[in-house]
Amino acid sequence: MVQPTRIAVTPGDGIGPEVVAESVRCLEVLRSKHGLALEWKRFPWPSHAWHEEHGESWPADALEQLQQYDAILLGALGDPGPVDDPGRYLLPDSISLAPLLDMRKNFDQWVCERPARLLPGARQYLADERAKDIDMLVIRENSEGEYVSQGGRLRKGTPDEVATQMEVFTRKATDRIIRYGFEQARRRAEQRAKEGNTRSFRTLDGSTRESQVCVITKRNALRYWGDMYTEVFEEIAEEYPDVATHHELVDAACMKFVQSPWAFDVVVASNLQGDILTDLAAVLSGGMGVAPSCNLNPTDPDMPSMFEPTHGSAPDIAGQGLADPTAMLFTTARMLDWLSRKDPTLASAAKELFNAVAADLAENAGTQRGTREIGDAICKRLGD
Ligand code: IPM
Ligand code: MN
Repeated sequence: MVQPTRIAVTPGDGIGPEVVAESVRCLEVLRSKHGLALEWKRFPWPSHAWHEEHGESWPADALEQLQQYDAILLGALGDPGPVDDPGRYLLPDSISLAPLLDMRKNFDQWVCERPARLLPGARQYLADERAKDIDMLVIRENSEGEYVSQGGRLRKGTPDEVATQMEVFTRKATDRIIRYGFEQARRRAEQRAKEGNTRSFRTLDGSTRESQVCVITKRNALRYWGDMYTEVFEEIAEEYPDVATHHELVDAACMKFVQSPWAFDVVVASNLQGDILTDLAAVLSGGMGVAPSCNLNPTDPDMPSMFEPTHGSAPDIAGQGLADPTAMLFTTARMLDWLSRKDPTLASAAKELFNAVAADLAENAGTQRGTREIGDAICKRLGD
């Protein structure tokens, strides 16, 4: 008997609980259909409501509790409350979002994977027909860089105030994220070859390869980490002669993501630059309603990885049953796929969930449906 795989379900704020409820329903259908050894527990924290009651977003031992699980399924965090209520309980973003950053840091979830693929039925924002071929994987460095949260404010509130915000880039973290990018590029090319839909990318000498890694920097202005990224990229690229290599400055990458996003395969970017590029990439693949995201620790199996869609808590539509659970469900499919490292029987459940969500999207292109209605349709598909 396999040890059950345990998931900590943290719905969070805003639309989080609504979309997470649909994920849990799908997991229930899959579990009973295939007798999966899957367990989950729902936590009322981290959340705005918990903070209002306890004066903090989660209990002091929250991280220790979460570490007992194989994965964390997170809805969204942040709840500004009704703007027309001057007495509402309001928290600064830096407080309400802190648990998200704490989980990434504490569990050393050093990879943030954000696939951007324009699936049939998803909204196509770009007019160019080649947009249908958008299929990239943006890999965001998730452990350091612009997010180290070091710095301070001197002479706070005075005209002479100084705010410093430090960026830290280590060779170790640079090395592992770039290597991860090349590994994923290779894996994607193998998968495409199996499916008979190879892609072709030009590399530096003009010849072509079946996969590509594009590394993003701003080395023309931020030269220290930019140069280190470039050197590490060149070193590691030598070990992957089968993968095309490319570099873009982040501003030019924004332009090219809009002009010719189908020319990208795997993109490796720093924490902040990856954050910004993945909002853009989400729109290219149909919008926030469909964009999954995973925060992974590929090196330490004792550390839970965390799965949350790229979208936020969308307070403007929260509580109305309007949120699209598609992104959350695609994220859940990726979670099952990730957990199949521990329990291989979860791999086919991951595929089944992905296929059901994709088929639902394709069949209902452009129709307005509520959260529950979409969840019902997908559960029904899974149950058949
Ligand atoms: C994301 C979010 C977070 C980030 C915020 C909420 C801190 O934008 O997951 O992309 O910047 O990483
Ligand atoms: Mn973001």
